[in-house]
Amino acid sequence: MPRIALYPGSFDPLTNGHLDLINRTVHIFNQVIVAVASNLQKAPLFSAQERVEMIKEVTQNLPTVTVTTFDGLLVDFARTHKVDAIVRGLRVVSDFEYELQMASINRQLGPEIETVFMVPNAKYAYLSSSIVKEVASLGGEIKAFVPPLVKERLEKKFGIPTVT
Ligand code: PNS
Repeated sequence: MPRIALYPGSFDPLTNGHLDLINRTVHIFNQVIVAVASNLQKAPLFSAQERVEMIKEVTQNLPTVTVTTFDGLLVDFARTHKVDAIVRGLRVVSDFEYELQMASINRQLGPEIETVFMVPNAKYAYLSSSIVKEVASLGGEIKAFVPPLVKERLEKKFGIPTVT
């Protein structure tokens, strides 16, 4: 039976930490669905379609990865796509409380769906989409934090000339 992983998130935008996690997940699961949440509590910088498009481009070398949006409950999406496990990244200890809460709620709602925690490379432990957006908005160098395409799109959003 092929094993299907669901990697959900806001991805506003995708960082190198997210990409590191996707690369690790493809080695464990036969198929990986990256699901971009379209209904966020906070207004996103990038539309859901923009986020999907960026992730598709940077994962085009990974044939077992598909990228799509989702809204509604994550467990409903997981059930519809016959997912075996929800994959979430744990960067630092402070991530754990929120992640445990989310995994526990998801287990209550969908007991058949497991949550698997993956740890990204330590060099990305401090990275988050929010911090990258803040640095980019202030004209800081973000080359080490996001794939080149995302850097380009972020700088365009903030009206900053791209230097390669
Ligand atoms: O990258 P994020 O913002 O930490 O991702 C959180 C996300 C979008 C995966 C989570 O908020 C989610 O699953 N939202 C869908 C609604 C849902 O199912 N909520 C109950 C479980 S938290």
